[in-house]
Amino acid sequence: MGKLALAAKVTHVPSMLISEMPGKHQGCRDFAIEGHREIGRRARELGVDTFVVLDTHWLVNSGYHINANARHRGIYTSTEFPHFIRDLEYDYQGNTALGESIAAKATAKGVLTRAHSGVESLGLEYGTLVPMKYMNEEADISVVSIGGWVYSAEMEESQAVGEAIREAVEESDRCVALLASGSLSHRIWDNREVEDGLFKISKPFNKEVDLMVLDMWQEGRIAEFIDMLPDYAKNCSGEGNMHDTAMLFGALGWDNYTGKGEMLHQYFESSGTGQCNVVFPVM
Ligand SMILES: [Fe+2]
Repeated sequence: MGKLALAAKVTHVPSMLISEMPGKHQGCRDFAIEGHREIGRRARELGVDTFVVLDTHWLVNSGYHINANARHRGIYTSTEFPHFIRDLEYDYQGNTALGESIAAKATAKGVLTRAHSGVESLGLEYGTLVPMKYMNEEADISVVSIGGWVYSAEMEESQAVGEAIREAVEESDRCVALLASGSLSHRIWDNREVEDGLFKISKPFNKEVDLMVLDMWQEGRIAEFIDMLPDYAKNCSGEGNMHDTAMLFGALGWDNYTGKGEMLHQYFESSGTGQCNVVFPVM
């Protein structure tokens, strides 16, 4: 019987890669990189063999989509930030059976979900690739990526997909870590200001709400958070409308979840947005 062993809300900011390059920003995201490495260490200690990543950089316009290729291999350059992420080589095993099982279960719950395999040209996006670069450096853990920038879906649909993920994992023979890869608030700076805003949030209001949300997570006030999630996503420009977060909590038990989040490092501001790495115990 399979198991959901680890769950986390994680950052994927491109400045993590800049942090590793010589220059004035070298080391600027060391703590976030270490947060990812810590999640990778914990995953290995728990016997995790598969990462399921809810990727807010995979835009889908209709239905839900899962990259269930048997192998993910390519060289990635971000079309959004080609000056930050370029020529990133990757090669991970996938898991077609798990992807197909998640899709079937979500579809049975009324949320049309397609799993794609045998499509070599369907690559991974950087919401998956950045966490995998640090959590899965040896590329020994398989990867299933799920589109998390769901253009026009309701939160309840992502809740159902999250529940489908949990059921499919538990029916499988895999040990899984589930990652919601997306920011907290996500109002990137206006174009004329973005170059100077690498370490600053764009709206004080967003920062205050982000910090309140982190308090709620650490205090286990998840039912309250779920209640405000649609307003939070809307008013604080949630990345991918925060569908990654809705899927994550769907898998954890939605408003019945009683776990408390563990921040692996401090909240940080990046190009106008609010970021974190928070682990949630699976109950
Ligand atoms: Fe992002």
